[in-house]
Amino acid sequence: MPHDGTPAPQHPARRFLGRNAVVTGASRGIGLAVAQRLASEGARVLITARKQEPLDAALATLGGDALAVAGHADDPDHRAEVLAAVEHHFGGLDILVNNAGINPVYGPLETADLDAARKILEVNVLGTLAWTQAVLAHSGLQFRERRGNVVNVGSVSGDVPAPGLGLYGVSKAAVAHLTRTLSVELAPDIRVNAVAPAVVKTRFAGALYEGREAEVAASYPLGRLGEPDDVASAVAYLASADASWVTGQVLTLDGGLRNAGGLG
Ligand SMILES: NC(=O)c1ccc[n+]([C@@H]2O[C@H](COP(=O)([O-])OP(=O)(O)OC[C@H]3O[C@@H](n4cnc5c(N)ncnc54)[C@H](OP(=O)(O)O)[C@@H]3O)[C@@H](O)[C@H]2O)c1
Repeated sequence: MPHDGTPAPQHPARRFLGRNAVVTGASRGIGLAVAQRLASEGARVLITARKQEPLDAALATLGGDALAVAGHADDPDHRAEVLAAVEHHFGGLDILVNNAGINPVYGPLETADLDAARKILEVNVLGTLAWTQAVLAHSGLQFRERRGNVVNVGSVSGDVPAPGLGLYGVSKAAVAHLTRTLSVELAPDIRVNAVAPAVVKTRFAGALYEGREAEVAASYPLGRLGEPDDVASAVAYLASADASWVTGQVLTLDGGLRNAGGLG
């Protein structure tokens, strides 16, 4: 049942029948919810993450056609292995969801560790660009010919300064700008969009709400934090033909928080 209490649709949409997708960072959290949504609507999905065991457990929730390849999102060899598997097993690619993202440090920019900064930018920004370049360059995937599309996972912290999360915010601001620039450069064949969530209840964001969820949720006009499914719904919309006239957009998913003066 959707979170607004309305009944689930009687005939769930099958918007991705015959479509193939890659979702990076998808053994849990937002990536897994996205992969499950795309698969439930008919897509064949390949998921990635670094650790094999949780990735295998996630794969088991996706149905018989799905694939999983373990590796680091910022590793070119891993990207090549994933795309070779997609070509071999699926025969082409229609949807790339750049979801893998990291935030290993917390603290002010004044004393930010520059090696950590490089790693964050490497995974969150250059990883997003590199996956996009790789699917375009891999001729066997026919991404351009199939009028594929890319959905990047940004963050509201890329729009509004979140003290302590500065490096992460810088990386997500770059993801938003990559999205807008690529959307112009790759049109008309390829659409490129992004989502920018506020706090979504995953392991990644645990430190931001665990033990005080009601207090944090009170600042959200819609009265609750995000669920991975909230993001999956938006990603599925952007990846689907329902959004065929939408490109270069960064869709804020925040339960109304920014308009209420939240963040920053
Ligand atoms: N949760 C939030 O509040 C929130 C808000 C805004 C944006 N986001 C963004 O949403 C995305 C997903 O976050 P999440 O909250 O779903 O996190 P999560 O629950 O911690 O899941 C992260 C997933 O990515 C994988 N992963 C992490 N680093 C990776 C890497 N270098 N290469 C490949 N896979 C990697 C993890 O598996 P392994 O550990 O096995 O690799 C896991 O499957 C991120 O881009 C994050 O910035 C999250």
